[in-house]
Amino acid sequence: MKKIIISLLAFVMIFSLVGCNKKASNKILVGVAMPTQSLQRWNQDGSNMKKQLEEKGYQVDLQYANNDVNTQIQQLENMITKGCKVLVIASIDGSALTDVLKKAADNDIRVIAYDRLIMNTEDVDYYATFDNFKVGVIQGRYIEEKLGLKEGNGPFIGELFAGSPDDNNATFFYNGAMSILQPYINDGKLVITSKQTDFTTIAIQGWDSAKAQARMDNLITAHYAGGKKLDFVLSPNDSLAIGIVTSLKNAGFGTASKPYPIITGQDCDKPNVIAMINGQQSMSIFKDTRTLASKVVEMVDALMKGEEAPINDTETYNNGVKTVPSFLCDPVYADANNYKEILIDSGYYKESDLQ
Ligand code: BGC
Repeated sequence: MKKIIISLLAFVMIFSLVGCNKKASNKILVGVAMPTQSLQRWNQDGSNMKKQLEEKGYQVDLQYANNDVNTQIQQLENMITKGCKVLVIASIDGSALTDVLKKAADNDIRVIAYDRLIMNTEDVDYYATFDNFKVGVIQGRYIEEKLGLKEGNGPFIGELFAGSPDDNNATFFYNGAMSILQPYINDGKLVITSKQTDFTTIAIQGWDSAKAQARMDNLITAHYAGGKKLDFVLSPNDSLAIGIVTSLKNAGFGTASKPYPIITGQDCDKPNVIAMINGQQSMSIFKDTRTLASKVVEMVDALMKGEEAPINDTETYNNGVKTVPSFLCDPVYADANNYKEILIDSGYYKESDLQ
């Protein structure tokens, strides 16, 4: 009797294992490679993608690479080995994935570049992002409006920062912002005291807050010691804005006699929204990661059904080898005046998240 029960149990176990496997292998596996968990937005991007893909019946392998290029390549290799049919990649170094993506193509795996374009490869099918040039334009316009430049006010004193040189987006943000600011610099209405205006000089490798803080420290020591005024700092995103604000605070900014300059940002990360409410950062571009994720999920779904993926741009994003068909979502900005409407009423944050 005991023997019969044991064999029966073994049979049930084997049967349910086979059942489990079958269930798992029925689902299409999608690899989602995100750059880092250190910036809040990528955590949201990752969890939105996972949730929305799972709701559509996909199985998801979500990985973060701690901003390390080799880790990301390794993760992509694993995704290929595990049998992923689609790879969704927010690259760390957009130019470092050519070999691993060749391997993906050899295995008939489709590739979607997420937020950041993947450069110098044939093997990327689609790109979904926010309109990156427009992000810079909105930041430039914010400075223009707050300083009253259109009305002829000035001259105003400021400094410029740009993002990581290995991220294709960084040049788009810079070019967008400079399309607004450069004419005022040419006219002498905006004065960049350090004279550091070209992309390479002002770029911050790895979007690193500490490196932005160190550059701002150096600029203050060299040009803004002894209470010299500073009217604006162009920061392309929130991780840089955090470093810039810390540096300014350490140098005694943030008082009635030495107020913070206008400081831009991007991502609406929680600490930055709090900094906006506290008057330390002026604005941040809001890119609703739920919208981007749902576009990419539509793309994945279309690819897997052999249909055309949604795109609205076939001209802007050349990766050096081909122009990648893209979907560009629309960025907006939030500041202390409109953040409730933009971030809370839309359900992105709860009021309690921002305390
Ligand atoms: C993204 C930004 C982000 C930055 C740093 C860029 O590629 O578009 O939203 O702030 O990377 O992670």
